[in-house]
Amino acid sequence: MKAIVIFGSTTGNTEEVANYVTNGLKDAGHEVTLKNVLDANPEDLMGYDLIALGSSTWNDGELQDDFIPFYENMTGIDLKGKKAIIFGCGESIYDHFCTAVDTLEKKLQELGAEIVAKSYKIDGDIADDLPKVKEWASVVK
Ligand SMILES: Cc1cc2nc3c(=O)[nH]c(=O)nc-3n(C[C@H](O)[C@H](O)[C@H](O)COP(=O)(O)O)c2cc1C
Repeated sequence: MKAIVIFGSTTGNTEEVANYVTNGLKDAGHEVTLKNVLDANPEDLMGYDLIALGSSTWNDGELQDDFIPFYENMTGIDLKGKKAIIFGCGESIYDHFCTAVDTLEKKLQELGAEIVAKSYKIDGDIADDLPKVKEWASVVK
């Protein structure tokens, strides 16, 4: 499938995770484009069969800053027939752990996409999760 991975990352954690997601999807045989959300717009999603969105969580459960305009502009696009997966970094010391992941999952579902894997939330240090997140992406059909 043609797949796109779009990430928003302030300190680089979700960006690094997005690289592993990309490699996992490539292992699964997909043709993958990786973009920082700053270089993407929601219309880009129309050209892909599989959509992977990744955002860290900031400021009491909010999307990563760069992701906010992209998220707002998603309203009104039709993602029926598309598959999607979601991932993101956070820290469970905060009240709203990784809620940006939930926000993106809900939006993708509202727009008609089918969520094809349990969303991947990373708590704190990402090192141990990097091989696991690659494995997670590598089984997405
Ligand atoms: C000021 C501040 C607020 C944060 N708020 C949250 C939060 O509400 N929920 C959460 O799960 N993580 C929160 N975090 C943790 C970050 O999401 C975490 O450090 C993450 O790895 C950053 O990923 P990034 O480098 O991809 O942006 C916060 C961190 C800081 C410094």
